[in-house]
Amino acid sequence: MKKETFVILLCVVCQTLAAQSVQDNTLNNGVPWFDEQGNIVNAHGACIVEDGGRYWLFGEYKSDESNAFPGFGCYSSTDLVNWRFERVVLPVQKEGILGPNRVGERVKVMRCPKTGEYVMLMHADDLGYKDPYIGIATCKTINGDYTLHGPLLFNGEPIKKWDMGTFQDTDGRGYLLIHHGPVYLLSDDYRSVEAKVAHVEGMGESPAMFKKGGTYYLLTSGLTSWERNDNFYFTAPSIEGPWESRGTFCPIGTLTYNSQSTFVFPLKRGNDTIPMYMGDRWSYPHQASAATCVWLPLQVNGTQLSIPAYWPSWNVERIAKTELKGKEIVRNWKSDRKGHTLKVSFKGSRVAIVGSTHDCGGYAEVRIRNKAGKLLHRSWVDFYSKVPDKGLRFISRQMPFGRYVLEVEVAGEQPVWYNKRKDRFGSHGYYVEVEKLIVDPSPVVVSR
Ligand code: GLA
Repeated sequence: MKKETFVILLCVVCQTLAAQSVQDNTLNNGVPWFDEQGNIVNAHGACIVEDGGRYWLFGEYKSDESNAFPGFGCYSSTDLVNWRFERVVLPVQKEGILGPNRVGERVKVMRCPKTGEYVMLMHADDLGYKDPYIGIATCKTINGDYTLHGPLLFNGEPIKKWDMGTFQDTDGRGYLLIHHGPVYLLSDDYRSVEAKVAHVEGMGESPAMFKKGGTYYLLTSGLTSWERNDNFYFTAPSIEGPWESRGTFCPIGTLTYNSQSTFVFPLKRGNDTIPMYMGDRWSYPHQASAATCVWLPLQVNGTQLSIPAYWPSWNVERIAKTELKGKEIVRNWKSDRKGHTLKVSFKGSRVAIVGSTHDCGGYAEVRIRNKAGKLLHRSWVDFYSKVPDKGLRFISRQMPFGRYVLEVEVAGEQPVWYNKRKDRFGSHGYYVEVEKLIVDPSPVVVSR
């Protein structure tokens, strides 16, 4: 082979590898992710544990049909983007706090340094959210079958509260965070509560805590059921306090970029640790396929915490915003007529939908068929949001290069639900609005 030909070939290989790694390290927010089997990653109210060289994602293994506890699932990954389904690590129990027709939410797992056990805490409740408990389960291995022990006890009594989170400090102590204020220190074996160490005045729901540079940060949401709101935060020099209210960490009115906090994962990059915000973009009642995750790096400056801009896609390796470029098929299609279907044929291996959401949006049923008409994919996509938004709504999984048909059908269903006080939340219409499709979207780094 001529030297020039070899150099050209080498360049092509290097470029291909570089493009591949950018693709592999790109996290897309607000769209379903697909596991190694091609199924939607079903992990909500989630947390991540870094253990044995892998990232372990635990979450509510939701169903599209009912809000009843369907189990907690576990996925693992080496890059936070490509997830392997491990198993449902805690299934519906025969009876008890996570028996049939109960609710199980906000699963959090920590490895107890003293016992080496993996301890799982969660919110367990009845379907009306009127019988709340904090439950505890344990397992010897991170992805094994967890044994549910029942309610977590404090002075021999169950903690009858709902939204919860956990925090593990650098000294190995474990904490339980509870909606509207209480922070509890767990016992050495993490199997019970030892003491209440703080009460954070003004706290809301969905607590998530991290520490950076000697300061503790506590994130929380307002109380609006599955609806998103402007989440806010507190800081303190120690867990015991004093805790100070610091306002919102995303621009006001974005409703935390249309998400609710669930966890902050300390992402190690070089000599630094970047707190990664993990939030839920709920979609009641089709949470398994239509609820998505919003994960973004938090910027910390003293006691100031912020996510200054929404990154629909970002490179988790380089902590940089990416944009998806590809062949665009502009459609500007909009309908609220049940059954009305946008059909687009494309040649490629992946397709993204860019569209608009607003308070009159509804569900679309998105399908992908091969040339022969065989159904390869079907899932719900939510076009509702309380505040209007335009952006990525769906990205298909990678398929063999070929000709496919994408169908986006107006489902004539809307995300709508009621809280305990019977207040109505959700959409007032059924609109599905598709602006364009991007065939074979590939990420390009645009800023840090
Ligand atoms: C809030 C909580 C969720 C769930 C819903 C139910 O969003 O944070 O965990 O309990 O309410 O309405």
